[in-house]
Amino acid sequence: MRGDQTAAWQDLIKQAEAFAGFDLRDAFASDPQRASHFSQEAPGVFADLSKNHWDVKVEADLLALAEQAGVLTHRNRMFKGEAINATENRAVMHWLLRHPAEGAAADALPASVKASLKDVHDTLNAMLSFAEKIREDAQITDVVNIGIGGSDLGPQMAVLALQSFVLKGKRFHFVSNVDGHELANVLQDLKAENTLFLVASKSFTTVDTMINAVSAKRWFEAHGGTVVSRHFVALTSNIEAAGKFGIQTCFGFWDWVGGRYSLWSAIGLPLAIAIGADKFREMLAGAHAMDQHFQHAETAQNLPVRLGLLDVWYRNFLRYTSRCLAPYHSALKRFAPYLQQLEMESNGKQVDQTGQVLPYGTSPVLWGEPGTNGQHAFFQMLHQGRDVVPLEFVAVKNATHAMPDHQTLLLSNVLAQAQALMVGKSDAGGHKNFPGNRPSTIVLLEDLTPFNLGALIALQEHRVFVSGAVWGINSFDQWGVELGKVLAKDLHSRLLTGDVSGLDASTAQLLKRLV
Ligand code: F6P
Repeated sequence: MRGDQTAAWQDLIKQAEAFAGFDLRDAFASDPQRASHFSQEAPGVFADLSKNHWDVKVEADLLALAEQAGVLTHRNRMFKGEAINATENRAVMHWLLRHPAEGAAADALPASVKASLKDVHDTLNAMLSFAEKIREDAQITDVVNIGIGGSDLGPQMAVLALQSFVLKGKRFHFVSNVDGHELANVLQDLKAENTLFLVASKSFTTVDTMINAVSAKRWFEAHGGTVVSRHFVALTSNIEAAGKFGIQTCFGFWDWVGGRYSLWSAIGLPLAIAIGADKFREMLAGAHAMDQHFQHAETAQNLPVRLGLLDVWYRNFLRYTSRCLAPYHSALKRFAPYLQQLEMESNGKQVDQTGQVLPYGTSPVLWGEPGTNGQHAFFQMLHQGRDVVPLEFVAVKNATHAMPDHQTLLLSNVLAQAQALMVGKSDAGGHKNFPGNRPSTIVLLEDLTPFNLGALIALQEHRVFVSGAVWGINSFDQWGVELGKVLAKDLHSRLLTGDVSGLDASTAQLLKRLV
């Protein structure tokens, strides 16, 4: 049942009205259990949700909402391999990519899913042994991933995040933009015989990636490269198109892996080359541990469920339209863009599963920057602006560098920001007042390891699943990207001819200036 058709939704509307006077400072003062009640351990992470605008009554209604909206049934359907991506008639099984090949959990899988598990491990083993081969190949000094969206953001984010595990002596480059400046900039420092290009595209039709791949191949041949088959590899579910392009080495994946959920598949090859097979498997293990948690932990202690429900409460009942993400680790600098695609492409929808227009908002705007940089830029607005923007901090206890004074300073800033947002300051008057009572969550990792990163990403995937399920939308299609692609094709040919007939006056005048 769609969230708004449940009794719990109506109760939450009433709760939200009563919530106007809620103040975090009073909530902590009156409930000594608040911090522990709203905190929990999950695989790889600890999360403190206590500095949020909710209480046990709201949480109870949200859990009832999950139950009445059938969130767990929907979750179970995903883990059974049913075609829950209804508009594309596809199963949603990125979780299978991190599933162990054997053991009790593998034995319990439905037969059809188990058959796919064998393919998954055959491909994973082949891809990881290829990665090891490249790691040992001293001739290859530069790996260039050509891909966009899910074929770029995940591996790029993870290679940066796990930089302390990255093999020395090889450089990793990511080219995504159709803007030729990006490719040109990367190529200018490369030598053809030392470069491996990974053409990453699930569909192998994405224009941005195809033009970059064609130009890279041209550059390779013009710069003395001869053996295309050794220097170009495809990561795709369209092996046929990759073959036509002239690429012989392909690592495939399946239509049941959405682009933004594909880091765990062959799309992860640049990461596997960077950190090696064992560490890549550790990342898969972390994500699998989170899958198990999501599948089996009771809802009141199920972190993705709690986060996803909090997202719904904020979006639909307290009407907060955005969420800011502040990872306090510079290696997580691409985490926000990665999560933007995950959340906004998954849940930025206006119709439900049956195509009915929704009467409520869905995905919040997700944005952010690593701390402490954000503090010296936009945190002003978070502290004193008129809008309430819930903040999600990600902090990592242990650093991998040997400058402990930096780490304590960094961590003191995370705590201070969350505290300042909540407690505010009212004794100075006027411009120097901080209203306080601003909500935040802290997600804490002991170390930024492959295991913990895998768990953290899977946590985010599942919280997006939960809010999408309450909203009754299909979180696994992305029709909203299509119209722009069609119009760009038309305007591309008009830019070559100067034809403005039939265009709106604004587009026509701009086009005339650009021909
Ligand atoms: O245009 C959006 C999109 O389809 C994303 O969903 C996807 O991650 C990206 O483009 C790249 O697609 P592909 O991997 O097929 O090139």
